[in-house]
Amino acid sequence: MCGIVGYTGPREAYPVIIKGLKRLEYRGYDSTGVALQNGGLKVYKKKGKVAELEDSIVGKDLHAHVGIGHTRWATHGEPNDRNAHPHSSASGKLAMIHNGIIENYAQLKQELLKKGYSFKSDTDTEVLLNFVEDIKTNNHCSLEEAVRIALKRVVGAYVILLLDEETPGTIIAARKGSPLVIGIGKGEHFLGSDASPMLEYTKEVVYVNDYELAIIKPDELILKNLGNETITPYVQKLDIELAAIEKVGYDHFMLKEIFEQPQTIYDCLRGRLDAIAGTITMSGIQQYSGQIMNANRIVIIACGTSWHAGLVAEYIFEELCRINVEVEYASEFRYRNPVINKGDVIIAISQSGETADTLVAIETAKAKGAIILGVVNVVGSSIARVSHGGAYTHAGPEIGVASTKAFTAQLAVLTMIALKVAHDKGSIDKERYMHLLNELHEIPQKVSKVLESSEHIKRLAEKYKEASDALYLGRGYNFAVALEGALKLKEISYIHAEGYPAAEMKHGPIALVDENLPVVFVATKDSYHEKIVSNMQEIKARKGKLIAVISEGDDYTAALCNDVMVVPEADEILAPMLSVIPLQLLAYYIGVAKGCDVDKPRNLAKSVTVE
Ligand code: G6P
Repeated sequence: MCGIVGYTGPREAYPVIIKGLKRLEYRGYDSTGVALQNGGLKVYKKKGKVAELEDSIVGKDLHAHVGIGHTRWATHGEPNDRNAHPHSSASGKLAMIHNGIIENYAQLKQELLKKGYSFKSDTDTEVLLNFVEDIKTNNHCSLEEAVRIALKRVVGAYVILLLDEETPGTIIAARKGSPLVIGIGKGEHFLGSDASPMLEYTKEVVYVNDYELAIIKPDELILKNLGNETITPYVQKLDIELAAIEKVGYDHFMLKEIFEQPQTIYDCLRGRLDAIAGTITMSGIQQYSGQIMNANRIVIIACGTSWHAGLVAEYIFEELCRINVEVEYASEFRYRNPVINKGDVIIAISQSGETADTLVAIETAKAKGAIILGVVNVVGSSIARVSHGGAYTHAGPEIGVASTKAFTAQLAVLTMIALKVAHDKGSIDKERYMHLLNELHEIPQKVSKVLESSEHIKRLAEKYKEASDALYLGRGYNFAVALEGALKLKEISYIHAEGYPAAEMKHGPIALVDENLPVVFVATKDSYHEKIVSNMQEIKARKGKLIAVISEGDDYTAALCNDVMVVPEADEILAPMLSVIPLQLLAYYIGVAKGCDVDKPRNLAKSVTVE
């Protein structure tokens, strides 16, 4: 939520910042702004996406070697020019951008109002900024000192970057709960919510930790804690290539990421799965294997698409490992004083590794003594760091706001964990274990096969793009795929779509069925197949439009349907990695056909760092 960028060094700051903001737009795109320091501070900001800001400031004085920029996902105050970041302090000498929420801003605002401050925006950010300025003025101290004092009073989550007219070339940054990366160049520094804004300039980065404050000059980076003690920055090398964050010929990141899935699943399995030797090696899981095997319960915590991956994993773990699994929305779990017993294992799933609810849910469970395993995509992210162990999904940067390749990589990792635990525990027989390893190994090839049908799915998109509603139904392992298919469609095309367990449909949604309602069944060949075909008959009898994802060669089911999308046969445990692909494509092509901004759907953000 909200992307932040900063630069200080010999280059022109504005182009570096604007390019960085475009890379971070997936985090929010309600409004955009930059503050540049060249003598005084110049602040340019506007409602809308980065390109709109660029257009609005053509011809303005943009010369500066230090600056900060922000792309916003609105929390406090509607998206408009006034509420856009950066905010300027009452004196105009300080500028600040912020990602997060200051929960006690109302109280701080009251204090400042009594002192005679007035506010130009409705944001919590402007309150924090003036609170800092007030401390700086009254204590006659440096900005760094004022920030430190202010943050001791702040309740909430933040990354803040500040510029001070009185200290040219210097950016002050601080973090708690939201991500901040500092890129180290030669005589220059870059800042970002993630590493993408700095990738073409440097591969050396420092991930700032909670309660740390950084003083950044072109040739100096000082890291301190809030107690003013200096900390040695831990410099890490980035393992991402620039092509990974560019569209490289695709119209949208979402399409690129859908088509990357054969490779991303392969990358996820590589070095871990040895189908010939019959081994699964996952170093971050290995040492907790005993605890997982003997767990009373596995609790899976996640949000959004990651939650859907958790639902598939619930079925897989219960089947293969015979362990009781519960899947929780992080936002619900964290607030209801959950019962965590000794011997419970938590698996937190997150693409970004920064989702605020998941992060706090982990902390809640950790405080109660649970073992936390993270299944995370972004290396070095907060969830990866607070987990005891876990496994990265290695899907590479996912930029399209609607998650695609992260989902299939999560499924691959979770399946490997379940297989490993089942094998160690002895709850799976050797033959089935080897069969599943072999089948898993073949999944990337089968995904490539599904992608070959993209033109067919594009034609279906044309046919169904005018629908106002859609129902997605699945059973067993494919139930969560139905939920995910519906989520993709509503995110990308704004068509109302509902996912439901196919049999449960008789207890409500069937009332919606008429000759106009497309009903998308996920009906690949599995142990529920006959049952779901009966559910299809029930829809057909009521004249609903039947569309189905089916297995190759299933002519009987195909004959029932108005349209089908075919995937290769696979063991039912692994089928979701295939059956979800046509649904991702269908949502994508419908979104494009309707003229929607598929990479940046309205109101959404990729990394939800506020509750
Ligand atoms: C947002 C994104 C979704 C994502 C969800 C959870 O809603 O738009 O695509 O599934 O957050 O994010 P996480 O990074 O924790 O997987």
